[in-house]
Amino acid sequence: MNDSRVSHVVLAALTLSVAAMFPGKPAAGANDVIKIGEVGSTTGSEATFGVATHQGVELAVNEINSTGGIKGKKLQVILLDDQGKPEEAATAVTRLITQDKVTAVIGEVASSRSLAMAPIAQQNKIPMISPSSTNPKVTDIGDYIFRVCFIDPFQGYVMAKFAAENLKFKRVAILRDVKNDYSVGLAKFFAETFKKLGGEIVVDQSYSAGDIDFKSQLTAIRAAKPEAIFVPGYYTEVGLIARQARSLGIKAPLLGGDGWDSPKLLQIGGKAIEGAYFSNHYSAEDKSPHVQAFIGRYRKEYKQVPSGLAAMGFDAAMVLADAMKRAKSMNPADIRAALATTKDFQGVTGRISIDQQRNAVKPAVVLKVVNGSFVYESTIRPG
Ligand code: PHE
Repeated sequence: MNDSRVSHVVLAALTLSVAAMFPGKPAAGANDVIKIGEVGSTTGSEATFGVATHQGVELAVNEINSTGGIKGKKLQVILLDDQGKPEEAATAVTRLITQDKVTAVIGEVASSRSLAMAPIAQQNKIPMISPSSTNPKVTDIGDYIFRVCFIDPFQGYVMAKFAAENLKFKRVAILRDVKNDYSVGLAKFFAETFKKLGGEIVVDQSYSAGDIDFKSQLTAIRAAKPEAIFVPGYYTEVGLIARQARSLGIKAPLLGGDGWDSPKLLQIGGKAIEGAYFSNHYSAEDKSPHVQAFIGRYRKEYKQVPSGLAAMGFDAAMVLADAMKRAKSMNPADIRAALATTKDFQGVTGRISIDQQRNAVKPAVVLKVVNGSFVYESTIRPG
């Protein structure tokens, strides 16, 4: 059992004993809060995903609570760690719904974990909002499942267009994580658009999340002489892949997607990740007042510049709160109906409108790794 679940159990036991001391008396304040569940990886090889997202959620919830809450009630977030494992994500969401009786769930970041959670939320008719799972299958699970980010057919198009038109590349290699729904999907969508734009996938290799040696795949890639390598994975493996590619003498730049969004990518990849490009949900260099105000408040609280994940966590919580304010009641079915009619909500990551498939249609940014930081390169709009 992990730490957060231990403390959670302790909390539940305390509530029980208070209730036992005052039989017949409901625990004070129990009806004055609206409980929201959150599931994320706050430990494991994608720990920065869960931590950054939660910080964004927390900032949003504190702002909502300090400005009157929702219909006179305060929001309370119950966060459970899934350690980056789909089966733990499923257990966590079950627990949040059946034991904590949450009204809605925020999570997960990783598509494979959202795919494990969504059938449970759908079956129990509890709205679930993923901040940043981009695989199309996630919201296909049912009408209670939403996201506030774009989806991978678009993200794949963004990087293919960038590779073909901005970088003028014609020959690209792919290295995908076959254990990761996001990676498999994004590799496919990238290849489709890149070929349509006249490019060629010269070699297509794969690995499995958790691998640490990528030399044989990279040797095959080196032999095909690509102009770039598209690696739609998560930051831990991507950092290692960058280093091993350079040590094999490969000079072609790496390209990737939002799964690269972590300060750890820079730590693990070091010099080897310099010059690489990836698509993401936001850029901290965006001068819009919404973005800069958010960065200011986040820095004050956490002494860091927020990542795209933090911005998406913030927007997910804000979109949920907006729907709760508009909902006829706090019944999950009414919140679901209000979420489905979200239109032009001004988020940090852009204007959010929920479409028929319960996805958000938004532009993406391309960032470049320069001198150990993520530098804004361009914005690509849905076409
Ligand atoms: N989009 C990724 C997925 O679906 C998750 C992710 C989003 C990771 C944003 C980092 C930043 O799996």
